[in-house]
Amino acid sequence: MNLKGRSFLKLLDYTKEEIEYLLDLSIDLKNKKKNNIPHKYLEGKNIAILFEKTSTRTRCSFEVAAYDLGMHVTYLDPQGSQMGKKESIEDTAKVLGRIYDGIEYRGFEQSIVETLAKNANVPVYNGLTNEFHPTQMLADFLTIKENFGSLKGINLVFCGDGRNNVANSLMVASSKLGVNYTLAAPKSLWPDENLIQICKEIAATTGSVIKFTEDIMEATKNADVIYTDVWVSMGEPDNVWAERINLLRNYQVNKDVMANANKDAIFLHCLPSFHDLNTTIGKEIYEKFGLKEMEVTDEVFLSEQSKVFDEAENRMHTIKAIMYATLGEHE
Ligand code: CP
Ligand code: NVA
Repeated sequence: MNLKGRSFLKLLDYTKEEIEYLLDLSIDLKNKKKNNIPHKYLEGKNIAILFEKTSTRTRCSFEVAAYDLGMHVTYLDPQGSQMGKKESIEDTAKVLGRIYDGIEYRGFEQSIVETLAKNANVPVYNGLTNEFHPTQMLADFLTIKENFGSLKGINLVFCGDGRNNVANSLMVASSKLGVNYTLAAPKSLWPDENLIQICKEIAATTGSVIKFTEDIMEATKNADVIYTDVWVSMGEPDNVWAERINLLRNYQVNKDVMANANKDAIFLHCLPSFHDLNTTIGKEIYEKFGLKEMEVTDEVFLSEQSKVFDEAENRMHTIKAIMYATLGEHE
């Protein structure tokens, strides 16, 4: 398997075997880290990480993964570069590509990260766009693999906004990896018909089944993995909250939903999550709408079945695998 020089923009660009290879590489690098085995395979290389939206996990994972591999990192925040305002995406890509060995981008349209990759001449990594969140997927499917031993035939159910970056990516990753994907959401939050068709065609080749329903209890029956995400994503205007709460309040992951799933089912969430009142937005929503918890109850979030912090940790190991695979020397 040779992924050297490749960008990581969306999982649609990767084969099943390539994704599985990245998962195996992640397991190997995680073992090395846990056993204090040095792995500075990319000493002397440099990456730039560009964030037009905020981040905890993705930023920290790219930084620590890069340091563990022996690389240096430049972090650019939304105000920290000329990109977009004074310099085009194309020109920014050409400049950064001359200076860095790889570039991470988190921001808005998928077309931006695709344009960066076209012009940079070095690997570009999608750290989340409006449409996709591919690095998150490797962490999620690694976590599932760690819990169930394998992926084939696992039933994954996403409850929430089925058109957001995480849900889109889960549908793509599931179809590629032979995992059954069910979306529980009101019809108006089902994904783009085009993407559904593409995923169904891929699914037909891997034995995965893709389903959509408005009935959360029907969806979560026999579920192995129950996944949710925030009801309003970064970059969406504040005025969508009222409508979104109305649409999704019956799709909250609570103990009845978990009890409806398989006995050994796990709960996943990409995080950050609104499961209590310990956040500014959580408090504002409580004052306006009276909701103490949103997409998941505190009880489920903190339960034994919840693997969200393993999942968060796995962001680092999997991002490390992506950088090593695309920048390193491999036999
Ligand atoms: N899950 C995730 O991407 O988290 P951050 O927004 O903190 O990077
Ligand atoms: N759908 C969320 C994911 C955050 C990691 C968002 O885009 O805000």
